[in-house]
Amino acid sequence: MVLIATNVCDYKELAKQKLPRMVYDYYALGAEDQRTVRENKEAFSRIQFRPRILIDVSHIYMSTSVLGYNISMPIMVAPTALHKMAHPEGELASARAAASVGTIMTLSSCSSYSIEEINSTGPGTRFFQLSVYKDRNLVQQVIGRAEKAGYKAIVLTVDAPWLGRREADVKNRFTLPPNVVLKNFEGVDFGNIDKVTDSSFAAYYDACQVDPSLSWKDIKWLQTITSLPILMKGILTAEDTRIAIESGAAGIIVSNHGGRQLDHAPATISCLEEVVGEAKGRVPVFLDGGIRRGTDVFKALALGASGVFIGRPVLFALAVDGEAGVRKALQMLKDELEVAMALSGCASLKEITRGHVTTEGDRIR
Ligand code: FNR
Repeated sequence: MVLIATNVCDYKELAKQKLPRMVYDYYALGAEDQRTVRENKEAFSRIQFRPRILIDVSHIYMSTSVLGYNISMPIMVAPTALHKMAHPEGELASARAAASVGTIMTLSSCSSYSIEEINSTGPGTRFFQLSVYKDRNLVQQVIGRAEKAGYKAIVLTVDAPWLGRREADVKNRFTLPPNVVLKNFEGVDFGNIDKVTDSSFAAYYDACQVDPSLSWKDIKWLQTITSLPILMKGILTAEDTRIAIESGAAGIIVSNHGGRQLDHAPATISCLEEVVGEAKGRVPVFLDGGIRRGTDVFKALALGASGVFIGRPVLFALAVDGEAGVRKALQMLKDELEVAMALSGCASLKEITRGHVTTEGDRIR
């Protein structure tokens, strides 16, 4: 039994002991048979290092910049819904923790504290995750609020036109706990959200009317209503990378929504090189999904990512120890990345190259 957390997976174990099953399962699990959830993590373990030696690694530099904003490490916080189910301070605590370690937090549009509340909890660079609703006035309102509150980019989720089938939530009869609401939608005319009697998240999702007809032409429209850069989150193929760049995306996040949408979608780390190859350096490519160790971060950087985002580790650390827990989890990954860089002979991020890892594909060739 885990007593104290020495790595981010320990936080998962500790959170499991602490959280109600309904909440733990909502955070931990994914779609249908969990194939993609597992594969996201396992695919990292099939990549090995080609460490280089006798290189001066007495100082390791890992600060970088994303869309022009400086961060202390290439590890950022992915948007995840409903942090208040983990801890009363919810996203407020996560946002403060991210800022205190000098990295970017992405606020989910399904957050349990509002866009404005997060902004007033303290300084920090933040991105806002957007889902596009059928009611385009609402989309415009939400973007306007994020801009006014000083968020620096829109992270547009493009892999959830329908909600994936998350059977644990059905079995557990998931309902929002009484003290938790989708805070960004309070006071927003959401049509029929007040009439949702079954408070399952899926029912809310339907009521929020995420628009399943969203298509490439809408990206152009989004660009007419915001001057913020748009990162497209949920791309797994070269084909979509090409169209995303032609459509003006400022960056791409290779993501399968942490395995919560299409089960049997490939591990994100297996798709990274395809996307990076197509992007050809025109826009930065980021990755999320299954990052649990500094070595995972290193592998993603070696395969061409400009940085990574983490989802569940933040939620579990938040559940266990609030703001301090999230700070520690981020610091653990940073410390692990530092060791991985030192032991691979890389004193700075730009020294991490494709030659520092081998993938299954390399070994077959
Ligand atoms: C998510 N994710 C997500 N993505 C998004 O665009 N909007 C959202 O509201 C949410 N909500 C959400 C809730 C929970 C509980 C999880 C676990 C995930 C997906 C998230 O941004 C990210 O893609 C994955 O979590 C990354 O995988 P790991 O790090 O959790 O393995």
